[in-house]
Amino acid sequence: MAVQDDKIWFDSISMEFPGVLALDDVTFGVKKGTVHIMMGENGAGKSTLMKVLNGTNVPSRGKFYVDGKEMRFSSAREAEKQGIAMIYQELSYIPDMTVERYLMLCREPKRGCFIDWKGVSQKAKEILEEEGLDYDPKLTLRQLNVSDIQLLEITKCIRGNHIDVLIMDEPTSALTSKEVERLFEKIEMLKKRGITILYISHKMDEIFRIADYITVMRDGKHISTAPAEEFTNDGLVKLMVGREISDVYPEKETAAGDKILEVEGLTSEYGRLHDISFYVRAGEIVGLGGLMGAGRSETVRAIFGIDRFEEGTIRIAGKPVKIRRVSDAIRNGIAMATEDRRRLGLILCRNLKENISLSSLRKVSRYTFLNLKKEKRLTERYFQKMKIKASGLEAAAMTLSGGNQQKVVLSKCLMTDAKVLILDEPTRGIDVGAKHEIYKLMIELAENGIGIIMISSELPEFIGMCDRAYVMHNGRIVGELDKKHMTQEEIIRMAAGGVRHGHSKG
Ligand SMILES: Nc1ncnc2c1ncn2[C@@H]1O[C@H](COP(=O)(O)OP(=O)(O)OP(=O)(O)O)[C@@H](O)[C@H]1O
Ligand SMILES: [Mg+2]
Repeated sequence: MAVQDDKIWFDSISMEFPGVLALDDVTFGVKKGTVHIMMGENGAGKSTLMKVLNGTNVPSRGKFYVDGKEMRFSSAREAEKQGIAMIYQELSYIPDMTVERYLMLCREPKRGCFIDWKGVSQKAKEILEEEGLDYDPKLTLRQLNVSDIQLLEITKCIRGNHIDVLIMDEPTSALTSKEVERLFEKIEMLKKRGITILYISHKMDEIFRIADYITVMRDGKHISTAPAEEFTNDGLVKLMVGREISDVYPEKETAAGDKILEVEGLTSEYGRLHDISFYVRAGEIVGLGGLMGAGRSETVRAIFGIDRFEEGTIRIAGKPVKIRRVSDAIRNGIAMATEDRRRLGLILCRNLKENISLSSLRKVSRYTFLNLKKEKRLTERYFQKMKIKASGLEAAAMTLSGGNQQKVVLSKCLMTDAKVLILDEPTRGIDVGAKHEIYKLMIELAENGIGIIMISSELPEFIGMCDRAYVMHNGRIVGELDKKHMTQEEIIRMAAGGVRHGHSKG
């Protein structure tokens, strides 16, 4: 009966990967023209199930129905022909492809049997204009940041042909609040046209704004599906994690020590940074606040040697250091977890042990020999601490769920014997339970005298974790806040460019 009523009906779907039962007998329905939110911890099976619906995964057992008809897709192309499209969680793209090529990929206008390149440019330009995306269609994807690419990806999906089921896997994780509003408006609009939206998210505040229905999964099993108003925030957390969790930020006992990192007059044409000066003490967690595009990531990328900078000095424990490339930064005791784990954080084809120990080989080797036992022991500690969900340390990084990949990147950083640790959006895409673990690890590291720079777009987390913060606007530091004065309003006011005092000059 439900099979006929629902737009989509999953019927006892199971999916096995070597060593992992990712989906375990999942049955539920999705109503036509609703926004249906999928929730659950990292590795619960959300993405795997959505990939069954979009044809990239073929389930080991079970069936699913679309409009009451049993479907079997063997590729995403086939699903797309039936009106089902998906925006992926991990951004995977060819960095050298241009915006216009990417946007029109697989639906290029043809002239006879040749691609009509002029037509590609023209159509792409039209779409970009209509969607209010103001970037140059000739740019390559490499030149865009995460949020630009994600918006492009969403546009590409929405503008595809005859899509009446749109799956979005954590689509807002890299968007600014303004971009999120735009997406939500678009979702409203799509809903009015009868399009069914399946939406995976870890963000409690946003799901209640758009949800008609919520499904909770845990350990590959279906736990609950009901109208959104039947859930409360705490109730949802409990369903996902299977236990109560207090959302408090752990307290730090020890006081900060001497300045461990000093940045003075950092200026970069490329990163649009102007005269950035700040410091971090040993044992201190210092936040870099600001809106997306303010220059927070650019600043830490320069310090870590990913991007070049023209002027400025960096001192570690009072000693000036030259940083031209990432290896310089690592050698001088800086470690960093980047915001875009796919592009910069992980070697996807390697196993977890290798990924975790990659930047701390010195710690696990003697002379030139790798101490395999020690490598195993140390990596295992983080594997357990971070509760990484995988078949084991030998599993390849690419087989992990998005949130669990993020945990691997963090483990890799946390394991280095760095003096300065940079965390750019460390909890993006991470479930509530694991967030708590990451906070605890950060505190532990700070208590061991490590200076931490943290970038986070989630203000409660930013305020909860940082001892002190600098707020950026337009490539400059526009203010400094101590713990006492750090409020959501104050940060937003400064980030909007209202004030300039504290450490900025000129
Ligand atoms: N190709 C694969 N090979 C082996 N295991 C896989 C593969 N894809 C997924 N898995 C495993 O299946 C389980 C479910 O993963 P899935 O990506 O569906 O989680 P998720 O709910 O989307 O989590 P997240 O919130 O972290 O994105 C995980 O344990 C994951 O490691
Ligand atoms: Mg996922």
